[in-house]
Amino acid sequence: MHIQNNVQLQPFNTLNLGSVASHYVKVENESMLLDALSYAEQQQLNILILSGGSNMLLPEQIHALVIHMDIQGIETLNEDDASKTISVGAGQGWHDFVLWTTEQHLYGLQNLALIPGLVGASPVQNIGAYGVEVGEFIRSVRVYDRKLKQFTEITAQDCHFAYRHSIFKDEPERYVISQVIFQLLKHADLKLNYGDLKQAVGENLTAKNLQNQVIQIRQSKLPDPKEFPNVGSFFKNPVISQQSFDQITTKFPQLPHYPQANGQIKIAAGWLIDQAGWKGKRLGMVGMFAKQALVLVNYEQATLTDVQATYRAVQQDVLAKFNIALEPEPVLFNTVGLIQSHTE
Ligand code: EPU
Repeated sequence: MHIQNNVQLQPFNTLNLGSVASHYVKVENESMLLDALSYAEQQQLNILILSGGSNMLLPEQIHALVIHMDIQGIETLNEDDASKTISVGAGQGWHDFVLWTTEQHLYGLQNLALIPGLVGASPVQNIGAYGVEVGEFIRSVRVYDRKLKQFTEITAQDCHFAYRHSIFKDEPERYVISQVIFQLLKHADLKLNYGDLKQAVGENLTAKNLQNQVIQIRQSKLPDPKEFPNVGSFFKNPVISQQSFDQITTKFPQLPHYPQANGQIKIAAGWLIDQAGWKGKRLGMVGMFAKQALVLVNYEQATLTDVQATYRAVQQDVLAKFNIALEPEPVLFNTVGLIQSHTE
């Protein structure tokens, strides 16, 4: 095990925040993970699990052991006529994995192409786009349970997947994900219900074309983190009651909305931010992207403090105009490597 000190995490987080970790280790398999965890215990350090860094907000200094997950590998566990079950290392890149499934004629994940990050983080916030959420294709998640001090497998049902949510968000310090077990279809069942996806796919009803159209739509709206550092959607789309929805729409009837199975209504945060005047607007080095107001961009060498100043200003303006409190989507860490509430 090779523990490094004072490691700059800027290259490892897609918002490009400068952040120095007092202790850092790269982990390539489960036994290295156990070694890293016992080192942290001996040294009385908290641990911070670093995956693709595409959904995190890091402070300038972190006194903790940063464990950078790099477990690779894809293994077939079993298959029948309808589906194939595969186990994928937490450190595999998400987008490359999606492309690989399409090449292998395995279906389900095509709508989730081009999402930044690694496979191991995909169940945490149940990544979703264009009418599909990853939880629909996960059979189980292999984790190290820090409470029970053992490796275990959590079934999809026990993961409690919901919109941008899972048990991994309820108990963020408890589990370290090492493998994700997917059950993918052998026959294409294209999901074309979202927005103008059906039109974009047209007559060419293949999984590969669906994947390509999703890639094109994302590229046309969402900034490439290499050019404009960002963490994707910065806020969740608020889910509100029918009563609150009725109140807002008397004043703002054009508000884009999506009725949920439980009778609540999901509303478009991007539209609220746009209408509040923040689309393409900056406060110092940080601003909301001109083609999609839901994405916050670090245009220069901003720190966490600069990012917070901008997103709090956006929250204030949306609250003043619509009486809606926007909830940030990325996970905020404190200086000892623990997850912190955005409202503290
Ligand atoms: N809108 C505006 N102005 C904007 C942005 C959006 O008016 O600046 C309107 C759009 O016209 C549309 C509605 O808001 O009517 C929704 O916009 P869009 O379809 O672009 O999707 P979204 O709700 O902004 C969500 C996910 C994205 C995902 C897309 C497609 C969340 C928080 N975001 O965005 O996920 O790619 O749908 O499924 O649920 C991510 O999580 O990082 C992410 C990019």
